[in-house]
Amino acid sequence: MSGREPLLLAIESSCDETGVALVAGGRRILAQAVASQIALHAPAGGIVPELAARAHLRWIVPALKEVLETAGVTIPEVDGIAVTAGPGLAGSLLVGIAFAKTLAWAHRRPLVGVNHLEGHLYAAWLLDRDEPERPAPPFPLVALVVSGGHTFLVEMRDHLAYRLLGETVDDAAGEAFDKAGRLLGLGYPGGPAIAIAATHARRRDAILPRAWLGSSYDFSFSGLKTALRRQVEAELAAAGRPGTEAGGRLDPHRVAELAWGFQEAVVDVLAAKTLRAAEETAAQAVVLGGGVAANQALRERITAGAVSRGLPVFVPRPDLCTDNGAMIGAAGCQRFVAGERAGSDLGARPAWPLVRPFGTPDTRRPPRRGPAARAYEAALAAERDTAGDDPVASTRESAR
Ligand code: KG4
Ligand code: ZN
Repeated sequence: MSGREPLLLAIESSCDETGVALVAGGRRILAQAVASQIALHAPAGGIVPELAARAHLRWIVPALKEVLETAGVTIPEVDGIAVTAGPGLAGSLLVGIAFAKTLAWAHRRPLVGVNHLEGHLYAAWLLDRDEPERPAPPFPLVALVVSGGHTFLVEMRDHLAYRLLGETVDDAAGEAFDKAGRLLGLGYPGGPAIAIAATHARRRDAILPRAWLGSSYDFSFSGLKTALRRQVEAELAAAGRPGTEAGGRLDPHRVAELAWGFQEAVVDVLAAKTLRAAEETAAQAVVLGGGVAANQALRERITAGAVSRGLPVFVPRPDLCTDNGAMIGAAGCQRFVAGERAGSDLGARPAWPLVRPFGTPDTRRPPRRGPAARAYEAALAAERDTAGDDPVASTRESAR
């Protein structure tokens, strides 16, 4: 980036966190605020969309005020406003989008619509306000995004250019953690609760099934969830306490052991496929993002495997793995610098995919060398030419 680094005001409201941040040059967080709704949704055991949208309305202005005051910045000083346009809950997205559009219009600042999943990916580029400079992730890289609603593995050869290697065929990893948390009576959200329970496991020998899906990079977690449910039911029946969704009545030590077994099964598959993808695509780095990337066991497993292969791992600190505004500022800056601007017709795109289908059938597993590798490179170049290197539809396209 030449000249002064762009300063972006970023807004995230796609799910159950209201996030606002000021990010300079797509990396440096000047200030950020996240208003979490976890306590609001916990009694229902999951996100209630209408409550979420109302809470965004309640907290978005205080979050903005706090960020501007902390950084000592006024809106006319920012170069642009980035906002999550999807995927996510329609009502929640609309709150952030309407807010960002109003600010952009009132202050005559450019607006950029950002894909939430791209935000999770670019969180790995972020630096805290006082953190010493450090290099950005080098390309080519392999990135694993594991959130509550999405789980996929992509190869990135450059900024904003993604090739889908694999994705979940059923539940997202975070969704699986949340369902397992309910089965074990651990409450919502299940991910952090299972991670904590697992650390208390006295015996670490509970084996739950892994879905390897052959040599593909796809993931599946629904069989694991069913296996856990059957295990819980069988143990309750054996103890004369039959019933489902009643894991809370299992002995807490047993809950901890099953939590450990569940986490181990998820981590095993995520780590093995990510590391194999890094090897097969000759990646220079591994990037992790999304709420489940806050999981310590996953971070440690992937880091150990990558280090043994001489690869650096870029993983945001845990609170930047879960939803936040700064990550939208990081991704939004890349889009801003690439010249993307959204119009006043920017709408919510609840099911906006990050990566559009690649086309040719053999491209999900890139060959490493030989004629097949050259054909793959040629297909990739042709795809880039026709797509203008822009894997997601223009943010000007209205959402429907
Ligand atoms: O990325 P995120 O904040 O929201 C979505 O975009 O979905 O991810 C939330 C998900 C939830 O399913 C939550 O259970 C999971 O991330 N999660 C974790 C951990 N912290 C959050 N899963 C496993 N271990 C954790 N420490
Ligand atoms: Zn998210």
